[in-house]
Order: sequence, then structure tokens, then C-alpha cells
Amino acid sequence: MSENIARFIETFTESLASRTFIKATLGNYKGADEHLQKISFRPITTKRGHRLFALYRYSTRDTAKNFAKAEAGKLIAELIDSGFKSGHLFTTETDLQLSIGKKGKSRLNTAKPTHRTPLPLGHDRAKRRFIDPNSYYLRALGITTDAGEVRDKQQDKWRQINRFVEILASLVDDSRLAGRKSLSIVDMGCGKGYLTFAAYDHFRESRGLAVSVTGVDTRAELVALCQDISCAGNCEGLRFVEGSIDSFDVSSVDILIALHACDTATDDAIYKGIRANAELIVVAPCCHREIRPQIDPVDIYRDILKHGVLRERSAEIITDGMRAMLLERCGYSVKMLEFVSVEHTPKNNMIVATRLRRPKDTEAVQLRIDELKKQFAIDHQRLDDLLAASRAASAS
Ligand SMILES: C[S@@+](CC[C@H](N)C(=O)[O-])C[C@H]1O[C@@H](n2cnc3c(N)ncnc32)[C@H](O)[C@@H]1O
Repeated sequence: MSENIARFIETFTESLASRTFIKATLGNYKGADEHLQKISFRPITTKRGHRLFALYRYSTRDTAKNFAKAEAGKLIAELIDSGFKSGHLFTTETDLQLSIGKKGKSRLNTAKPTHRTPLPLGHDRAKRRFIDPNSYYLRALGITTDAGEVRDKQQDKWRQINRFVEILASLVDDSRLAGRKSLSIVDMGCGKGYLTFAAYDHFRESRGLAVSVTGVDTRAELVALCQDISCAGNCEGLRFVEGSIDSFDVSSVDILIALHACDTATDDAIYKGIRANAELIVVAPCCHREIRPQIDPVDIYRDILKHGVLRERSAEIITDGMRAMLLERCGYSVKMLEFVSVEHTPKNNMIVATRLRRPKDTEAVQLRIDELKKQFAIDHQRLDDLLAASRAASAS
């Protein structure tokens, strides 16, 4: 090993030990893995203490791992040996830039430190609101920068997950779940897991509850990334499962959530929550495609709904309105709100359903749902169909 490489590794490990380490990257990869591009390192605090968090960036996907500080020297040496030709190290004392040429000749440039104070680690309770912007998972998922600042492009998603968790927190406090020591939550159509991690972080880290939080999504690469980040953060009780909502077994769950699960995936999610008798079902739907082509209204509405834009909005209102009525039909009290303002997402309706101890006259609700369907010639609506099939199955 050349003297420059040895010095780079030595500074890396010493800075970790003395907590002057800020961050590092290995790049310009020329090794055997055709998809690997770079690895970025950050310090992280987990239940196992201070560790080194590594995000492996591939052309096809990302993965994450964490390591004990004592493993760092051997790890970096092996990685450089495997084909990384450049390294950047930032400590509060110096910046180092390592370059390795074709014939193994190396150069090490030293510069004044870019960061003179350590960046905040995760779990900084003093700054915590609903979501701690310094949480490692927000950095790993690309919501925040290394300094814990929300990236410009991620402001909308940041606002959505904050607000979602804030609403969830107050719903729990006002429900039969208040005071519980444990909670189970399922996030349907979790995508990159922003909301799943945020809900876990709030209930587990802020409130110290024993939680079981599961994110479900069909996209294997996102599920794998989220699972890696969860493992790297030692997030006990948080898991991600690949699969479709309708085939996911939800036998018991306290809270079912879904943020922008596409089109009728929201119906599948609500249905699963109803079947599991979830105390709370909280969904923010998106793309209401099912109803629109079916709408053939009674005469009085024809002049209004001949306009595409109004037909579009009406489809959204009727769909979410029916979902709310169907939840009432199943014994829930329902509120509909705009959870963030429209400039942060046009898909800002939130359906909040709380299970009632004594449901109202649910048959009467069904009659109104059937009447509504007649008015707009709606032949099928996913949630309505799922519930009808379930009633038929239990009647036979
Ligand atoms: C618009 S993204 C929202 C992701 C995430 N909830 C968020 O707000 O960042 C919708 C996600 O739902 C997933 N999805 C859509 N239909 C699904 C289904 N039937 N089962 C499981 N996941 C589904 C998609 O793969 C996608 O990741």
C-alpha cells in the first residue's frame, strides 16, 4: 500500500475515533462490479452507539450498511483495493483528496477544512419537532443534505410527511390508542419509505413506543433500499415487504396509512384496514382514474360535466366521497381534510377514518351510496366492489 493511501486511511480512522470525522466518499470506481459507482460515508448514532454509515450507489439501485468504527480501516483499505480510484475525506481539521492513477501511483492533496464543526448526528432530540431533519434516513433517502437541510426539490415531500405524521400523532392521542405502549402500523404503497421511516421515527424514537411498522410496495428495488437503510440504522420493528397491497396479509393492525398510493391501490389499502379492524385508517389518495370514464350523469348535471376539467374534479370528489361513505358504512367516523396546501401537492385530500365503538345505521349509508352510483351511472368502484364481495362471501 502506498504511503498516500495509508495516510488517507489513517486520517479516516483517527478522525472517526476522535469524532472529528464529517463525511467521506470513495469514487471513480474501476473494479469488477459493473454497476457500482460510489460509496458515501457518514457517522451515525444508533442503539449500538456511534457507527459508520455507508451508502453504496449503484447505477441500478442504492444499498446501505453500517459498520463499527473499529472496522473502518480494514473496510476502506479493501474498498480501495477493489477498484476505487479516488477518495474525499472531510474532517473538522482537514480535507483530503486521494487520487490513484492507472499504474497505482497516488496523490494526496490536503486543504483547509470545509467544515470546522461536526455536522449534527441523528437522534438530536433538542431539535425534534415531528420529524428530526438530522435523522440519518432522511439523508440516505436524499430528503436532506449532509448538514441536515431539506433539499429544495424535496421541500414538498418533506412538508407532506411532516404534516402526515403530525396529524397521525394527534389522531392517536384522541383515539383508543392513546396511552398504548405498543402500536402496529402498515404503510401501503410506501415507495421510497419517506412516510414509513418518519412514522417509525416519531412513534419509536420520540415517543419510545414498541412499534411494528411495515412498508409495503411492489417495487423490489425500493423495498430493498429501504430495508437496507432500516437495517443500517438498527431500526428494530421496522420492515419493508415487496408485494401488492391486495395480496398482503394484514390480520391485525392499529393504524393503516397510505400516501399517494396510485389510483385504486388506495381502495385496496382502505379495504385491508377495514378487514383488519384498524383503529385508524389515514390515506391521502392520488390519481382518481377509475370513475372518470364511467361518469354518465343524470340530465341536470350534463351541462356542467361536459367540461373535461370539471369532470376530472368531479371524479375525484365522487371517488373520495364514496370512499368516505363506504368507511362510514363499515363503522368508521370519517373526516376529510386538505392535509397540506395545494401549492405543495394538488393531491392534498386526506381521508381520516376512526373506528367507532357503536357504528351508526350502516344500511342507510349503503342506500345513499347506491343512489349516488345511479345518479352518475357508476357501475364499479373498487372499494365498493371489494366490500360487496366480502359481504357476499360471509353471507354464503
Ligand atoms: C406515488 S408513489 C408514493 C410513494 C410514497 N407513499 C410517498 O408518498 O412517497 C406510489 C407507490 O405506490 C406503489 N403501488 C402502487 N400500486 C400498488 C399496489 N397495488 N401494491 C403495492 N404498491 C403499490 C408504487 O409502486 C409506488 O411506489
